[in-house]
Amino acid sequence: MMDMVSERVLKELNQQVNEELYSEYIYLSMAADLVDKGFKGMATWMRVQAREEHVHAMIFYNFITERRAKVELDAIKMPPTTWDSPLTIFEAAHEHEKFITGRIDHMVKIALEENDNATYQMLQWFVEEQVEEEANTDEMATNLRIVGVDGQGILMIDREAGSRTFIVPQAPYYPAPGQQ
Ligand code: FEO
Repeated sequence: MMDMVSERVLKELNQQVNEELYSEYIYLSMAADLVDKGFKGMATWMRVQAREEHVHAMIFYNFITERRAKVELDAIKMPPTTWDSPLTIFEAAHEHEKFITGRIDHMVKIALEENDNATYQMLQWFVEEQVEEEANTDEMATNLRIVGVDGQGILMIDREAGSRTFIVPQAPYYPAPGQQ
């Protein structure tokens, strides 16, 4: 097959499929821990987040395919299974999003170095998305920090979080051309 994408860029794109699938995985793990702790609403919030991460993974997957390169899937590492509290969960989610932002910034740098304008342009959607991802997780952590150990406050946050619904992201390469 022709090399339309440099090996260096392709390696990063494939790694990002894995990072986004891991994001889906860790948020599903957080949802499981939240429901186990009795926070059904925050578990719903995390399940919605996990669905978004699946779409993020598929955007990279579809982009690789559209560039006529090969998707290669690696093992998804095991996420933690339990956290101390809803606050530590959302703090960990916020930290994870900062890590993903770092990954996107790193890929932007490599795309520029490789003169890969198509990859550079596709990544701009993620540059914007990461601002929202960091803000959303930080907002949840901040609210939980404000209410502290107040049970009533935590239950209010839980109820509010439960109203989050999944909206299909409007993104380039999703769905893939000619696919669902
Ligand atoms: Fe795919 Fe939450 O960044």
